[in-house]
Amino acid sequence: MNISIVGTGYVGLVTGTTLAELGNTVYCVDIDENKVERMKQGIVPIYEPGLEEMFLRNIQAERLFFTTNIKEALDKSDVIYLALPTPPGEDGSADLSYVISVANQIGEMMTSYKVIVNKSTVPVGTADKVREVISAKTQIPFDVVSNPEFLREGFAVEDSMNPSRVVVGSSSEKAKDIMAKIYQPFTNTGVPIIFMDEKSSELTKYAANSFLAVKITFMNEIANYCEKVGADVDKVRLGMGSDDRIGHRFLFPGIGYGGSCFPKDVKALIKSGKEENFDFKILEATEYINKKQKVILVDEIEKYFGGNIQGKKIAMWGLAFKANTDDIREASSLDNIELLLEKGAQVVAYDAIAEENVRKILGDKIEYSKDMYSALEGADCLLIATEWSEFKNPNFELMASKLKNKVIFDGRNMFSMEQAEGSGFFYKSIGRKTVR
Ligand code: UDX
Repeated sequence: MNISIVGTGYVGLVTGTTLAELGNTVYCVDIDENKVERMKQGIVPIYEPGLEEMFLRNIQAERLFFTTNIKEALDKSDVIYLALPTPPGEDGSADLSYVISVANQIGEMMTSYKVIVNKSTVPVGTADKVREVISAKTQIPFDVVSNPEFLREGFAVEDSMNPSRVVVGSSSEKAKDIMAKIYQPFTNTGVPIIFMDEKSSELTKYAANSFLAVKITFMNEIANYCEKVGADVDKVRLGMGSDDRIGHRFLFPGIGYGGSCFPKDVKALIKSGKEENFDFKILEATEYINKKQKVILVDEIEKYFGGNIQGKKIAMWGLAFKANTDDIREASSLDNIELLLEKGAQVVAYDAIAEENVRKILGDKIEYSKDMYSALEGADCLLIATEWSEFKNPNFELMASKLKNKVIFDGRNMFSMEQAEGSGFFYKSIGRKTVR
C-alpha cells in the first residue's frame, strides 16, 4: 500500500517507519525543510531505541521517503495519516488548527478516493470536523478514520511493532477493509484489531491515558496514607497487583506523573467534559492530587531543615520526566526546582541525557553537574527526581564523603529498605517508613 504521513514529529515518524517496516511505501511529509533534508540524508530527528536502525533499513529498501510537497505525496497515496501536533490551548483544550489546515489542503488537492487517518490524539468529534472541512472542498469520495496510537516514549519502536491492540474507528466498510489490510501483519500474529465508530475510538485514547493517570494517582494517595499509618506501599502494591483485575503495572508511587501525554490528555478530557456540562470529578481530583504530589518532597526537605531552606544547596539526580528519555515536558523535576528556588534554595542537578533540554529553559538558574557524585559536592541533601538505573546501586560511602549531610529524599523509591537501612543515611521515600 502507498501511504502518506503528514507530520514527522514523534508519532508521525515512528508510525511512518513502522508502516514502511510492514512493507508499505511511505511518504513522510513535513513543512520543516531543514528536517526533511536531514531525514533524506538518513538523520533521525528524535532519539528512540531501535528507531535509527529501522529508519535506515527502510530508506535503503526504498520504502521510506521524505518530502515537503504534500501534493506530491497525496497523489501517490491511497491512505493519508495525520500525525500533527494538537497542543493544549490556554484553556486546556486541544488546538486543532494544524489538523484543520491540513484537512483543507487535502480537500483542495485530492484527485481520487483517499482514506484520511487521524493518528494524533484529538477530541471526540474531530473525525466529523475533518470530514466537514474536506467535504466543503471536494466532491471526490473519501473516508475519515480514527486510529489512536498508544506508544510510550523510550519504547515507541517496541510498542509500535508489538501493539497490545489496534483501535480503528470507522463507519465505512471500505475504509475498514483498507485499515484491516494495513494491519494484517499484526492481526496475523494474534494482535486484536478492534473496530468501532469514530467517536468511541477518539475517546478510547483519552480514556486509556486518563485511566493510567488515575491509577498512578490512586497509588500515590495510598502511598501517602501508608506513611500516616505506618504501612509499606511496596507490600500493599504487591498484594494489590497480584489480583489480575488490578495488575502489577502502573502501580509505582512517586513524585507524580509527567510527560507529553498524561497531563495534556487529562486536562483535555476535563475540558471536553465541561463543554457538554459534564464534570469529570475523578480527573479533576487526579490533576489536583498530582500537582501536589509532584512537590511533596519539598515539604519534607523543609521540615528536615527546621522550616527554612534559604541558602541550602539541594543536589538533584534526574531531570527527565521518566527514565530513558531526554523529554522534560511536565517533568516533576521542574516543579521541584521552581519551588526550591522560590524558597531561596540553590539546586545543582545531574542528568546526562536531559540536561541540555533543561538548560534551554532554565539556563544558569541552577548549576549542572557532569556526573552523579560531583553533584553532591558540598550539597545539603540529595533529591532523586528520575529513576535512571545508574542511581539504583550507588556507592553510599562516596556519597557520604561529598554531601554535607547524609540525607536522601527519594521521589522514585530507587532503593530497597534493606539498602536504605544499610546506607547510614537519613532516607525518606514515598509510602515507606523513613530511615533515620
Ligand atoms: C504514556 C502512555 O503510557 C502511552 O500509552 C501513551 O501513548 C502516551 O503516554 P509516556 O508518557 O511515554 O506514555 O510515559 P509512561 O511510561 O506511561 O509514564 C508516564 C508518567 O507516569 C511518567 O511521569 C512516569 O514516571 C509516571 N509513572 C508511570 C508513575 O509515576 N508510576 C508508574 O507506575 C508508571
